[in-house]
Amino acid sequence: MRVGVPREIKSQEYRVGLTPGAVREYVAAGHEVLVETGAGDGINAADEVYGRAGAKIAASAAEVFSAAEMIVKVKEPQEEEWKRLRPGQILFTYLHLAPDPRQTKGLMESGVSAIAYETVTDARGHLPLLAPMSEVAGRLAIEAAGQSLKRFNGGRGILIGGVPGVPPARVVVLGGGVVGTHAARMAAGLGAEVSVLDRSLPRLRELDELFEGRVRTRYSSLATIEEEVFSADVVIGAVLVPGASAPKLVTRDMLKQMKRGAVVVDVAIDQGGCFETSHATTHAHPVYEVDGVIHYCVANMPGSVPLTSSHALNNATLPFGLALAARGLKAVLEDPHLKNGLNVHRGVITHPAVAKSLGLPFRHAEEVVV
Ligand SMILES: NC(=O)c1ccc[n+]([C@@H]2O[C@H](COP(=O)([O-])OP(=O)(O)OC[C@H]3O[C@@H](n4cnc5c(N)ncnc54)[C@H](O)[C@@H]3O)[C@@H](O)[C@H]2O)c1
Repeated sequence: MRVGVPREIKSQEYRVGLTPGAVREYVAAGHEVLVETGAGDGINAADEVYGRAGAKIAASAAEVFSAAEMIVKVKEPQEEEWKRLRPGQILFTYLHLAPDPRQTKGLMESGVSAIAYETVTDARGHLPLLAPMSEVAGRLAIEAAGQSLKRFNGGRGILIGGVPGVPPARVVVLGGGVVGTHAARMAAGLGAEVSVLDRSLPRLRELDELFEGRVRTRYSSLATIEEEVFSADVVIGAVLVPGASAPKLVTRDMLKQMKRGAVVVDVAIDQGGCFETSHATTHAHPVYEVDGVIHYCVANMPGSVPLTSSHALNNATLPFGLALAARGLKAVLEDPHLKNGLNVHRGVITHPAVAKSLGLPFRHAEEVVV
């Protein structure tokens, strides 16, 4: 198969869909890989490095999109990209369609078969292609919170870990999945007082064992969320209902009762966010303030550490990408986990939660993929 890797064009996004190491694997499996010039600049992989890995270098995105049978990217296609997609082509990337009706319409109109990294599953029902970026984002969330807590950034002027004789920050993590666990690990490592809230009791039990009492676990309810959030210095939004918009756990009214200069880091912003007052920001302008509470809502946090992130992402996507390159959409029908990744195919929505969130009709992949 001819596989295309365009340069990412979203603001401040420096990751790349295939690393040179991954390109070698595709080429070794007999595929042709076309990489847009400069696609690897953000991870210090020049065109020559891709050339040595066996890729052909394309002069423009237009060339990549028109020649490739499968496009492998990182972020959801931007408008100029989705206009270049066509029926019969596979798009393998993050999509986050539930809160994004415009992109969904664009993809439906293009006729492309779009497989979303974030809804591909594994045998344990987890999301293996979301996990590596969630690990990165969870760890970064505490760095972002530490930065925003500084007085000159509008924060409370608290050091996350405190010092002997002065208490540390209170960090509340909403959602104890991958993002939440890695955020809790970093916060606890810095010496913060950490609470993690989740709806899943089995998950809370796992976290209790994992952190050996170093982190408080609490069942997520209206009452516990209020109690924790009102006394927090930092709240990390890390909930996920797969394929659906994030539940708004913290309302505008609740925000008014939070400490002035407290920081919320809404990592779940790519699914619409779990604070009513969140809206997506970029690395260029990452924060804004509402009712004295600093909001950090960057939708592509791992993009700021592209070297770590691109390698972590490729480690996870490689086997699925190779299966798609070898078998095309047959791979989707053969593998129930890859099938869960198919969000849009030739103008119809093939993921139930995405269809429900957007109020659009849903069709099973096996009915429409032939
Ligand atoms: N902003 C970014 O750059 C970035 C990067 C990576 C991931 N994310 C996003 O972060 C979010 C979390 O991802 P994840 O990999 O940790 O997901 P996950 O599935 O591992 O964890 C989500 C957790 O939320 C819990 N949950 C669901 N509803 C809840 C509720 N009402 N109260 C409390 N907990 C609840 C679930 O039980 C689960 O444990 C996703 O939206 C993901 O897309 C954003």
